[in-house]
Amino acid sequence: MELPDRTAAACVRAAVTAPSMHNTQPWLFRLGTDRIEIITDPRRALAVVDPDGRAMHLSLGAAVCNLRLALAAAGWTSRLAGPGLVLLGPQREPSDGMLVLASAIGHRRTNRGPYTATPVGEDVLDALRVAAAGPDVRLTVLDPLRRSAVLALTQAADDRQRGDPAYRCELARWTDADGNRRDGVTARTFGPRAATAALPLRDFGLTLPLAERTAARFERHPLLVVLHSRRDTPDAWVAAGRALQRVLLTATVHGLATQPMTQALEVPDFRRYLEDPDGRWHPQMILRVGHAQPAPAGPRRDIRDMVLREPDQRPLPRSTAFPRTTLAGAGR
Ligand SMILES: Cc1cc2nc3c(=O)[nH]c(=O)nc-3n(C[C@H](O)[C@H](O)[C@H](O)COP(=O)(O)O)c2cc1C
Repeated sequence: MELPDRTAAACVRAAVTAPSMHNTQPWLFRLGTDRIEIITDPRRALAVVDPDGRAMHLSLGAAVCNLRLALAAAGWTSRLAGPGLVLLGPQREPSDGMLVLASAIGHRRTNRGPYTATPVGEDVLDALRVAAAGPDVRLTVLDPLRRSAVLALTQAADDRQRGDPAYRCELARWTDADGNRRDGVTARTFGPRAATAALPLRDFGLTLPLAERTAARFERHPLLVVLHSRRDTPDAWVAAGRALQRVLLTATVHGLATQPMTQALEVPDFRRYLEDPDGRWHPQMILRVGHAQPAPAGPRRDIRDMVLREPDQRPLPRSTAFPRTTLAGAGR
């Protein structure tokens, strides 16, 4: 049982399309004959917004989810033997459900544009809840009262971050006006700036001149969902990241746009407000969900810079796109 290099490369390529805070892409891959392990890359940590590495572990989980779906789509079963350790199993036809999710991997992106007033159906919201659900993870759709509270907290957190020179400095390090980089948030994906202060979205253009940015009106009453986990440990963050990615891919399958809005989770005092009063469920992600014009894809690094090879191993083939042909017929 040995995974061909081309399949391994394609699956790693699928893994790195996962979301990561500020698009740091904080992943390293160890490839073995019967396993692929993903570990976090501490050189890509965000000391100001993510001092505990919680967001980094969420993106590890999201990448693991993509990796396993891509393996499944390529005909390989797998099992998790550790937070980032994926062991290959026997080859087998994937289920239709897995194929459909895998087919969404290359289409998912963070959409920072305005969302339309078209409502999201209850059946789709149910599908998102089911996608998240595990014994220790759950997704809640916020009612109008909670939404107002979360938006107010997000606004307060955003104001605090904007006023913090260390935050601005870190954001500037991970944003790119010229689009020459293969990581960070590039100007193409900043999205328009809000014409009115209706929605407290993170402004990636904060440290750049306003002149070249278009302005748009954003919805005043966004649909927000919150992902909670029962525990608040690194392993629980990785599990929440896997659930997050299932939710994002399910939303993509249903033609929905999504955007994380996590400022309130990055200020410890504010994050505490979003815990259940009994402290049993910890907030891991706040997502804005809705219908929108398609958004451009963010850049990705060359996987050969992310794969740790043993000295006796051949280099991986040049980075190929995630093989949609493998997924042909999966539909969307
Ligand atoms: C834990 C986490 C927090 C994030 N927070 C925000 C946020 O507050 N605002 C935002 O616009 N995007 C946020 N993102 C999205 C990333 O910026 C995005 O995944 C990255 O730029 C790559 O782009 P893509 O999702 O389109 O592939 C977050 C992503 C993660 C994993």
